[in-house]
Amino acid sequence: MSLLTRLTRDDLVAARAILEPSTLRVDLEAELARDFALPWLLRAEENTPPVALLLAWSVADELHLLELASHPDHRRRGYARLLLTALLAHARTYHKRLILLEVRRSNLAAIALYESLGFEHTGVRRGYYADNDEDALEMRITLNPETGTSMPSVV
Ligand SMILES: CC(C)(COP(=O)(O)OP(=O)(O)OC[C@H]1O[C@@H](n2cnc3c(N)ncnc32)[C@H](O)[C@@H]1OP(=O)(O)O)[C@@H](O)C(=O)NCCC(=O)NCCS
Repeated sequence: MSLLTRLTRDDLVAARAILEPSTLRVDLEAELARDFALPWLLRAEENTPPVALLLAWSVADELHLLELASHPDHRRRGYARLLLTALLAHARTYHKRLILLEVRRSNLAAIALYESLGFEHTGVRRGYYADNDEDALEMRITLNPETGTSMPSVV
């Protein structure tokens, strides 16, 4: 049974072990201090190291997904999908209107995952990633804040 928890100071080393193989750089200590941050970890079982991490910011009626990663030894087991499903549930519970994210154009695995959960392509940000000048695809899910139902995104 998978277990979702909020990141704590005790988890920092294990969380970095998820991020570093994917060369994702996140100041986790800064995220711990932000009251609008949702830094979540997923464990496959209680008292085992986390296998996946999600970081989102909750601002007004929007959730912005900033990072999502599974440890390389634990990919294709549905952990990232579980974290995103939990984020969608959180959005519905807290009457959010929008979940927004940017993803590298070359990241076909992540794009497939986002599409499978109903994220729509809503724009391209040219040269968004400074390390290689790669474009970002903007994707979003728009929700009716009253009912939590997904709606077509109008941009
Ligand atoms: C993208 C990433 C988070 C997916 O994590 P994961 O736990 O392996 O994903 P899941 O097992 O939940 O996969 C769910 C779906 O995503 C898609 N997917 C995941 N990995 C894929 C791959 N290598 N190729 C194609 N599709 C893939 C598939 O649709 C998959 O469903 P399926 O297994 O039923 O076919 C993981 O590969 C990762 O950490 N990558 C490096 C960091 C990154 O790119 N993060 C996203 C942008 S910040």
